[in-house]
Amino acid sequence: MSFIARSTLKAAGKAAVARQFSTSVARMQFAPGPLLHFTEDEEMFRETVAKFAQEVIGPKVREMDENENMDPSIVQGMFDNGLMGIETPEQYGGAEASFTSAILVVEELAKVDPSVSVMNDVHNTLASTCIRKWGSKAIQDKFSERLATKEVGAFALSEAGSGSDAFAMKTTAKKNADGDYVINGSKMWITNSQEAGIFLVFANADPSAGYKGITCFVVTKDTPGFSIAKKEKKLGIRASSTCVLNFDDVVVKKEDILGEFGKGYKIAIECLNEGRIGIAAQMSGLAMGAFEKATGYCFNDRKQFGQYIGDFQGMQFQFAQAAVEIEASRLLIYNAARLKEKGVPFTKEAAYAKLYASQVAGNVASKAVEWVGGVGFTREETLEKFYRDAKIGAIYEGTSNIQLQTIAKFLQKESRQ
Ligand code: CAA
Repeated sequence: MSFIARSTLKAAGKAAVARQFSTSVARMQFAPGPLLHFTEDEEMFRETVAKFAQEVIGPKVREMDENENMDPSIVQGMFDNGLMGIETPEQYGGAEASFTSAILVVEELAKVDPSVSVMNDVHNTLASTCIRKWGSKAIQDKFSERLATKEVGAFALSEAGSGSDAFAMKTTAKKNADGDYVINGSKMWITNSQEAGIFLVFANADPSAGYKGITCFVVTKDTPGFSIAKKEKKLGIRASSTCVLNFDDVVVKKEDILGEFGKGYKIAIECLNEGRIGIAAQMSGLAMGAFEKATGYCFNDRKQFGQYIGDFQGMQFQFAQAAVEIEASRLLIYNAARLKEKGVPFTKEAAYAKLYASQVAGNVASKAVEWVGGVGFTREETLEKFYRDAKIGAIYEGTSNIQLQTIAKFLQKESRQ
């Protein structure tokens, strides 16, 4: 089901660029607006996604979680609604919209289902972004349209022995007689891998150079020697696939190296700096979804001792505290997103956003189950699911400890400047 024609989204993206240009001089004379204000085009994305999420994803959330499987019609629906090529240039079938639009999409999807949200996030903010930023013209011509219109993307960095220590990977790529590369090794915890057709695979092509041998290759699912070995059974985001990938003499053409040889480590971490804003948005969407559901029930449905439980001050103070935390996490996210759009450094701010939004999501989802009591604890409602789904926020795309370490490194450097 398509809620909005892709051509409308494309036109919106184009109009945004034109407006930005024509008003750039005028803008310089005004103070920047509040972070919670968005452009018309961003609002349009948000409304489209909210409708899609409620009407199409909502009815399938429980079943997908129980079956630990993403319904293919949801993935198709995201392509049909132009949600899989948000920043992708129009010429490749994308909407050429802002990074903030991509972030708002992730947030809106997570209000209903964080599993669908992370699929969209990894596809847009990691896979498509890497191709757009580092791909040669030939790579962009070959993969961008496929990613925007029909094939899911995945980002294969982690391995059994290299999670936080990502650059210690053991997967290798050796040059063969034709000048192409032969990949051998295994990747672990790879999001989207069951649905994906296009994988960005990081392998060390010159281990003697340490992490400066890491190179990024674009590998398609049908490449001989490439296989999905195992699908993980998880605590949360169970409809999102997380698999082990095996590479057994997988030959990749030299033309399918993404970016420069030996620069894979930079591609990975620079992309993750952006991706972390996306995961933060997934977490703030989750917190909002749990909060709205739980407070709606407390204010309007459940009575005890002759009044709505939301009328007790003890409950209201908890709601107020959670509301402030959610707002603060959103402000950190939109600030990091706007800094990135402006082309100024945002790594520290992205780490703030990811760290804090995942903490808030954990707290709010836990409180939401408690507020709704027995009903919140059952699987009739999705509150227990939000609670399970929240845990991953502190783990993927850089654990909370990695975010703290990133922030601390900046503080140290700033203090010694
Ligand atoms: N931004 C830009 N560059 C960075 C960086 C950052 N945040 N952190 C490190 N670097 C660069 C350094 O500048 C250095 O490069 P140069 O040699 O060119 O100067 C290089 O990386 C190594 O730096 P360090 O020695 O300080 O870093 P390290 O080796 O101790 O750790 C790291 C670096 C692996 C990036 C680590 O900080 C990190 O972020 N680990 C987490 C990995 C991660 O996020 N994995 C996510 C997997 S994908 C995923 O989760 C997707 C999903 O499923 C949803």
